[in-house]
Amino acid sequence: MSPTNCLIMLTLLSSRGIWVFVSFLPYVLGECWRDGPCDGPQSASFTGPWDKYNFAPQTRFVTPVNVISFPEGEFVSAYDEDEKWTLDSETPELVLDFGYEVGGIISLDYDQLGDGPSALALAFTEAKNYIGHESDSSNGSPEYPDLHLTHKINSTGPGAYTMPDASLRGGFRYLTLYQEEDDAPPLHIHNVRLEISFQPTWPDMRAYQGYFHSEDELLNRIWYSGAYTLQTNSVPSYTGRVDVGTIEEGWKNDAFVGPGGTVLLDGAKRDRWVWIGDMGTAVPSAFVSTGDMASTRNALQVMFDNLRDDDVLPKAGPPYLAYNSDTYHMWTMIGVYNYVLYTGDIDWLEPIWPKYIRALNYARGLVDDKGIVSVKGTADWARWLYSNERSSASMLLYRALQTGAEIGTCGQKKQRLSREAIMAELWDESTGAFRESPDDVSLFPQDANSMSLAFGVLERGSEEAERVSSYLESNWTPIGPEVPELPGNISPFVTSIELFGHFRAGHPERAVQLMRDAWGWYINHPNGTGSTVAEGYRVNGTWGYRTDRGYKDETYMSHAHCWSSGPTSSLTERLVGLQVTAPAGEEWQFVPETGVDGLGEAEAGFTTKLGKFSASFKVDRSRVHLKWDTPEGTRGWLSLPGKSGRWIDGGKGSRTLCL
Ligand SMILES: *[C@@H]1O[C@H](CO)[C@@H](O)[C@H](O)[C@H]1NC(C)=O
Ligand SMILES: *[C@@H]1O[C@H](CO)[C@@H](O)[C@H](O)[C@H]1NC(C)=O
Ligand SMILES: *[C@@H]1O[C@H](CO)[C@@H](O)[C@H](O)[C@H]1NC(C)=O
Repeated sequence: MSPTNCLIMLTLLSSRGIWVFVSFLPYVLGECWRDGPCDGPQSASFTGPWDKYNFAPQTRFVTPVNVISFPEGEFVSAYDEDEKWTLDSETPELVLDFGYEVGGIISLDYDQLGDGPSALALAFTEAKNYIGHESDSSNGSPEYPDLHLTHKINSTGPGAYTMPDASLRGGFRYLTLYQEEDDAPPLHIHNVRLEISFQPTWPDMRAYQGYFHSEDELLNRIWYSGAYTLQTNSVPSYTGRVDVGTIEEGWKNDAFVGPGGTVLLDGAKRDRWVWIGDMGTAVPSAFVSTGDMASTRNALQVMFDNLRDDDVLPKAGPPYLAYNSDTYHMWTMIGVYNYVLYTGDIDWLEPIWPKYIRALNYARGLVDDKGIVSVKGTADWARWLYSNERSSASMLLYRALQTGAEIGTCGQKKQRLSREAIMAELWDESTGAFRESPDDVSLFPQDANSMSLAFGVLERGSEEAERVSSYLESNWTPIGPEVPELPGNISPFVTSIELFGHFRAGHPERAVQLMRDAWGWYINHPNGTGSTVAEGYRVNGTWGYRTDRGYKDETYMSHAHCWSSGPTSSLTERLVGLQVTAPAGEEWQFVPETGVDGLGEAEAGFTTKLGKFSASFKVDRSRVHLKWDTPEGTRGWLSLPGKSGRWIDGGKGSRTLCL
């Protein structure tokens, strides 16, 4: 907290008297999470009109915003922290709405107005339509539901309750309080507060190192919902979910997930483990928005700490550590490149390097005699599995080898995977798309086709790239693409890759339309969190993602899943077109997409160890005004997409180009 803030806080406190001072003490001290490191940024890199879209709270201790009805969730009144809320036979439930996604440890004070034992119950949910006596599902056990927390009260009079640390609830928006017994004496509840556990090493959760702003209100909100989701997924080391199947009731979030004070996981409420595959989309978004790369480094570190003797990387970090997914193995390889590109952190890379080479050689060894990948570890993202020669695996290896070459693996073993083999074995000329596998000519998956564009297997302007972009569009519903390899579902994760693909194929209008259709639908949904990006949903507009593939309980879907944050990175890197192209931004490019309807003006910025980078464009009839401000000593490539460009020096600059 800055000295000025302290001063304001103290003035506020003294005006309320000494009692208030004591009860507010936690707001003043320890804005980081508890005793861990507190080395996050002190202040935002860029401030401006975009700050109003930032969902992150001002303080680590927050209170509910509204009291709403049970179970419909209709507005009852604003939450007043000085008021006592009564639970009795007339009002058996108190439903509190925090107003946006939160997560952490709840504390409250109470006063029991009568004799006899009673029990206060607490139930949590992310989605409004699951408000009820039991929490939405998070523990991962198909047999045992999450239920609710119970606090036994034995006597009349005042008391206080704080959730045990192991019961930390990583993601929720709604909290329902009620008494377990019907005939319990009335209970007054007051001073309900939440200690937020995520983004633990940041003294100021709003200190974003990047920003985005455009004339499209909806896209601004979507960008910040991705950023905030990443924050809710960046957590203290010992707040992971204990392994599925080891608990028989409720939930337990005190497992070790990775080293350091903060680790990037895949979800806020659920999973709460490192899944690097999911970070293929999350990490670029973290870089351009919060700028928190420490959580990524610690997540990558724990994967390499657990490289197995046979050179296989785990599918997910501890305590799970299954070694059964070659596609996630390759995502981890790509993740190393992304991290090093954004940070230039060679000191981290050096000791990892021998392991990186071993893991890359393992991946190379998956190429079969057809010249494409045949996976041995068959697990994958949520898709149904049809074939070991699934085309997405070849696309991923293509990208892993390309990024490996960029960070210095040239001269390693001869590459055996080629673009020619991918085209010969997997391209389907009649459909104009990649098929699932050489043998499966009836399925044209969203994942592999999106990757073929996003990873540059197909070049912008080629006939094949045009056809794949059109093919992908043919799967669209009004709320996003139906996934051919997971029918009935919409995956904002794979659709994030589709966004990158349309941008790279020269169809930014399709990418922006998809953001408005899918992410726009979610953020405006009255039953969602209104502040995050969701793991998935059904094409019929219900939350029951994957209920026919492993997720037995429809409430299990995670509403704050950073694998769905693709719009955040692509709006900065592809729409504004400001992107790092050499470590830490020694080289960068500014290639804005100026032709999208309703987007004549946009700007973005981010920060690396070399300094701040920002750029803006503004279309004025047949011309576009470009401005940039980047660190001296760097250089950037300036052009309009698909047109010739030129190198420019770092520093401040501007130019007007004809469209
Ligand atoms: C929100 O949930 C309520 C309660 O289940 C339901 O009636 C309503 O249709 C839902 N709204 C939308 C837009 O799905
Ligand atoms: C009530 O009694 C139970 C059983 O003795 C005990 O575990 C619990 O801590 C007590 N609750 C309070 C609030 O004192
Ligand atoms: C949506 O689809 C799921 C899965 O097929 C089904 O269980 C559910 O009843 C459907 N809901 C609506 C409102 O159509």
